[in-house]
Amino acid sequence: METIIITNSEDETLQLGIRLASVLKMGDIIALSGSLGAGKTSLVHGIGKGLGIQDAMPSPTFAIMRSYPLHPQGELLHLDAYRLQQQDTDHGLDEPSSQSILCVEWAEHIPLLFQQACLFIQLHVIGPSQRHIRLTYHDIRFQKVLEHDDTRA
Ligand SMILES: Nc1ncnc2c1ncn2[C@@H]1O[C@H](COP(=O)(O)OP(=O)(O)OP(=O)(O)O)[C@@H](O)[C@H]1O
Ligand SMILES: [Mg+2]
Repeated sequence: METIIITNSEDETLQLGIRLASVLKMGDIIALSGSLGAGKTSLVHGIGKGLGIQDAMPSPTFAIMRSYPLHPQGELLHLDAYRLQQQDTDHGLDEPSSQSILCVEWAEHIPLLFQQACLFIQLHVIGPSQRHIRLTYHDIRFQKVLEHDDTRA
């Protein structure tokens, strides 16, 4: 299944992330792809916000991975694979945990994770503040949360 959404501001992309967060569960892997500045980090910030994270969430580009505790349990892992080559394994992640929700920017750099994702998000820049966002998934919960989105193309 596939849903296309056009957002017209960073805030709309954030709102999309908040909406997605409402159906995420532990063990989920979300694979994000798109050029520099496409809005991957903005979307993950929305997901974090929707999951109740109040701290600032800096881009993990230099740290590669950041972890944020979730209440009452589990964690949100935010991984930026930009600097990783496909054969690298030093991303600090042995295997996906059933106690975390994992969001991976440049997910195509880590095929093992890419294959296990339940939600694929591809972002394209179509204007200074417009983004074309394609969401691909098999699970009906994503369709349900996306179908009432009034920014849907
Ligand atoms: N509709 C929009 N959605 C998201 N970001 C937008 C939008 N319009 C403008 N922007 C701007 O685009 C930039 C997106 O940056 P962001 O760090 O989220 O991209 P990224 O895909 O994570 O890039 P990188 O590959 O460098 O990590 C921000 O400066 C944001 O303000
Ligand atoms: Mg980013």
